[in-house]
Amino acid sequence: MSIKTETANGVASVEIARPEKKNALTVAMYQQLADALNAANADAQVRAIVIHGQPDIFTAGNDLEDFMKQASREHGMDAPVFQFMRALSGSEKPVVAAVNGAAVGIGTTMLMHCDLVYCSDNAMFSMPFVTLGLCPEFASSLLLPLTAGYHRAAEKLLLSEPISAEEAIEMRIVNRILPPKEVLAHAKRQAARFAQLPPSSVRETKRLLRAGWKSSIEKTIGEESQAFGRLLSSPEAKEAFAAFFERRKPDFSRFA
Ligand code: COA
Repeated sequence: MSIKTETANGVASVEIARPEKKNALTVAMYQQLADALNAANADAQVRAIVIHGQPDIFTAGNDLEDFMKQASREHGMDAPVFQFMRALSGSEKPVVAAVNGAAVGIGTTMLMHCDLVYCSDNAMFSMPFVTLGLCPEFASSLLLPLTAGYHRAAEKLLLSEPISAEEAIEMRIVNRILPPKEVLAHAKRQAARFAQLPPSSVRETKRLLRAGWKSSIEKTIGEESQAFGRLLSSPEAKEAFAAFFERRKPDFSRFA
């Protein structure tokens, strides 16, 4: 299993564990993530959820081989990745993320749907959708400008510029930077605090915090996924994926 779960002190920890492929997320892993989050939400013993990766990598984002296989088919709304992101953004219980190393693509996008985010000083965030011939998904095109301001979001999404830990604080997508060895323990401590709080109050407060832009998020996800589905089968995306596996720079010069 590349997704591991354990529950202790009222906290369900969900670990992404595919280190040999830098924690790249496959269709099967999205399904396991969705199942883990849904199970944690249904378990009365669980008061909060922690998502984390490995000591040197959070996740390299969507598995690019899976992207190549999916290129010819519809990016359906019931696909495991949608089940995962629905389970995450709809989680009634607080979700705390602990990020060490790179958080690429959906690795950064998912953080925008978490409640608290802690990262190491060597964390690196990126949303290289454009350089992959794709476009933002799961409401990052709405949430990033909302959090960080339009121009900064444009730099990160249009030019695919990476985001250092310090910049992530400035952009308000991370709560706090910690030394690499302390990130996960801190995230778990923060999550365990929810076990001391009244659960109905926590649930209502989380719902209210998000209520203002809930319907905009849903609308944006719908628009993004249509564009994403089209782009996934584009020749530009094919060139980008091939270039990654051939360990070369993509050449987009022939495209209009
Ligand atoms: N999908 C599939 N395989 C991936 C992957 C991904 N997203 N990211 C890494 N891998 C694989 C590599 O192909 C390599 O496999 P191999 O050992 O069989 O050749 C292995 O994981 C190690 O990757 P490597 O690139 O050598 O590690 P690195 O430490 O030099 O770089 C990253 C780490 C995350 C910076 C780099 O792997 C990367 O940029 N990955 C792609 C990220 C991406 O574009 N994701 C999609 C976002 S939408």
